[in-house]
Amino acid sequence: MGYLLLNPAMASAASPSSTVYEQRRIHSPDGLGKFYMDREIAKVMGHTGAFWLERPSRETEEQPSKVVSILNFKPDDVVADIGAGTGYMSFRISPLLTKGKVLAVDLQPEMLDIIEFLKKENNITNVEPILATLTNPNLPPESVDLALMVDAYHEFEYPQETMEGIVRGLKPGGRVVLVEYRGENPFIMIKPVHKMTQRQVRKEMQAVGLVWRETKNLLPQQHLIVFEKPQA
Ligand SMILES: C[S@@+](CC[C@H](N)C(=O)[O-])C[C@H]1O[C@@H](n2cnc3c(N)ncnc32)[C@H](O)[C@@H]1O
Repeated sequence: MGYLLLNPAMASAASPSSTVYEQRRIHSPDGLGKFYMDREIAKVMGHTGAFWLERPSRETEEQPSKVVSILNFKPDDVVADIGAGTGYMSFRISPLLTKGKVLAVDLQPEMLDIIEFLKKENNITNVEPILATLTNPNLPPESVDLALMVDAYHEFEYPQETMEGIVRGLKPGGRVVLVEYRGENPFIMIKPVHKMTQRQVRKEMQAVGLVWRETKNLLPQQHLIVFEKPQA
């Protein structure tokens, strides 16, 4: 997405912690210069850009109600919305979980404050905000049926560690769903570091032991890619 407002403090900790990351001098101005499996990691969208997440045109650009209907939630599901931002997806999912809940996970306390405000304002009781760190989504172990990341994964500064934390939080057989702008299509008017190819997503999820199940190209500009945590 064409974010204009970035929080420099969030993008500063780019020093590689392990051999899976590589720092390059020549890189996109929209990225950290930090590469994972040959993909440059995007800068985090700062909370001052929260209004951008709630822009009305997203309804047609991204069709969030279609995302929700594709995922076939069960009423007692526990869904983790990782990189929840303002809760744009969390609050569209929570009404379906009449016996379940959404864990709305984000790195920025200011985003979680917005979620708390919207919960109170709309009297919603089944959305639980969780503060993540750069390397850990802080999910309770083996508690989640489906972990959803909408327009978020490409900006995780420690994607491998964060995904390992998500896998630990999933129940065996639980699903991981990534919704990312299609990197294969040069005509989608989004900055390249904010798009991902299906090939890249599958490579990165395989690296943390997830099994690809299906890719749905039913959205105007994004893929919706589904993975599963193996039973054993
Ligand atoms: C572009 S916003 C998308 C928000 C939301 N998913 C939506 O579709 O409206 C990405 C969000 O991911 C969060 N984020 C980035 N890195 C994260 C991490 N490692 N763990 C949790 N949240 C993260 C950011 O703080 C930001 O709120």
